[in-house]
Amino acid sequence: MVQIRLQDAGATRELGAALGRLLGPGDVLILRGELGAGKTTLAQGLARGLEVKATVTSPTFTLIQEHQGRLPFYHIDVYRLEGPAAALELGLDEYFYGQGVTAVEWGERLEGLLPPEYLDVYLAYDPAGGRLATFAARGPRYHCILEELRQIAGPGG
Ligand SMILES: Nc1ncnc2c1ncn2[C@@H]1O[C@H](COP(=O)(O)OP(=O)(O)O)[C@@H](O)[C@H]1O
Ligand SMILES: [Mg+2]
Repeated sequence: MVQIRLQDAGATRELGAALGRLLGPGDVLILRGELGAGKTTLAQGLARGLEVKATVTSPTFTLIQEHQGRLPFYHIDVYRLEGPAAALELGLDEYFYGQGVTAVEWGERLEGLLPPEYLDVYLAYDPAGGRLATFAARGPRYHCILEELRQIAGPGG
């Protein structure tokens, strides 16, 4: 587990961009945290790190937005998803097991539909101001990325 303090929205985007540069084909990130925690902001950074030129907005109503960068970037938000049947209809496996990078806001709600391995990203309001990001590798695939994040966090992360 790695924790990183994010002073402001710019820091969230910067961290997302640094993480985005580390990602490869088929990587999956689950973005957790309450409304306003910074999930979409982090995804905007991921897009920058993946060299997406288009503007990344919240896919809350469209559920899935596909962007083209150095890899395809699938930005998904399942906040408004109504039940397991609707989740199945999204055809998530196409994204999870494809050659792009997938980031899912509220992804923990997908439970059994999640791939066996993913990078868990939890964003929380920091009582001291800003946000606190907590990263955990779900499966050995993400151990390397977690180590890179540990370097970014520095001592105390
Ligand atoms: N580290 C941070 N410190 C303070 N505000 C932040 C930080 N990261 C993001 N924000 C702000 O929080 C608000 C909600 O962010 P957003 O990414 O839309 O959250 P979510 O997608 O989790 O609902 C935005 O105004 C964003 O600029
Ligand atoms: Mg959002």
